[in-house]
Order: sequence, then structure tokens, then C-alpha cells
Amino acid sequence: MASSASSVITLKINGEKYTLPVDHRTTLLDALRERLDLTGTKKGCDQGQCGACTVLLDGRRAVACLQLAVAAEGREITTIEGVADGERLHPVQQAFLDLDGFQCGYCTPGQICSAIGVIEEHAAGWPSAVTADVRPEAGPPPLTAEEIRERMSGNLCRCGAYVSIVEAVARAAEAPRDEQRVNTASDAKEAVA
Ligand code: FES
Ligand code: FES
Repeated sequence: MASSASSVITLKINGEKYTLPVDHRTTLLDALRERLDLTGTKKGCDQGQCGACTVLLDGRRAVACLQLAVAAEGREITTIEGVADGERLHPVQQAFLDLDGFQCGYCTPGQICSAIGVIEEHAAGWPSAVTADVRPEAGPPPLTAEEIRERMSGNLCRCGAYVSIVEAVARAAEAPRDEQRVNTASDAKEAVA
């Protein structure tokens, strides 16, 4: 039952719709993990500092611990559970596996969602803080290790798997563009939490 402090909302997550009542103070991270059992998204700092909770909102990366669930209504939310295409892993997932881009794996869902966002941002020509030539006509800079490190700098790894993570992002960026896309379909199935 909704009250003045809560609302019934519908979230579109990985192509499914979930309708649930939430306290207005509930973060998207807590809604995913505690209410919808989508525990692939991890809670590290809960303060926007570590990137463990990174998801995609309308294809752009966001930290779910700083996003209110009510504010995510109407957005296409993609979590780590939704990045594979059926049995086929997303190129970023495959590259992390092939190149040992993780140790304990706790930061990995956030790293992977962030890397998917990085590759899209780079393909769209967005500069980073280390891009030398930011003129629009210069086009996307080469996705060097320096560029990847800067663009992934919001995702911390306590295990220090950074060397392999950078290699994995670089390899995944070479995959065909049509394999890079994640499911943000709004032909969503209905679910009630
Ligand atoms: S848990 Fe969200 S940034 Fe650390
Ligand atoms: S693999 Fe352990 S925190 Fe990154």
C-alpha cells in the first residue's frame, strides 16, 4: 500500500517490467538487490565512490547507490543479468573471462557494465580527461590503455586486477558493433514484486 512516503512504481529492467511499492528513499541499488533479487549488482561503498553498483540507464552508466528507485521509473535499466544475449556472453564478459579480468569477482559486474558504457561513449566520440585533441572533427581518440584507465577510473578493484581489466576492455572494443549492444527493449514482460 502506497503512503505519502512511498509510491508504487514500475521499473523496466533487462526487458522486463517490475511493479513494486517503494519508500521514496529507496535507492535503485537496494530495490534491485533487496526487493527484486537481482543481486548481480554489488554494493561496495554505498556512497558513489567505488563503482561496484554500476548499471546502465538508457545505455549510459550510472551508480545505482546514488540513484533513487523512483527516479529510475521510465528509464531502460540494464544490469549485469541482462547484458548477455541468451547463452551468448556480451563481448565484454567474454573478454573478462578470456583474459582473467578479475580475481574475487566482487567488482566485476560493475566493471563490465562500466566497460560497456565506456565502449559506447568512445564510439560516440566522447573525449576523456586524457584525450589530447578534443575538437569534434578530430573524431574518437585511439582507445589506448591510458584512455581506458581514465575512463574506467570510477571502478575500483580491491584485488588489483587492473592490468587484465584494461586488456579485456581493449579486446572487447574490437568486437563488431552489433554484438556490443545490450537489450534495452521496451517490449517488456510483466512481473510483480
Ligand atoms: S556501491 Fe555504489 S559506488 Fe560504491
Ligand atoms: S576482482 Fe576482486 S575486487 Fe575486483
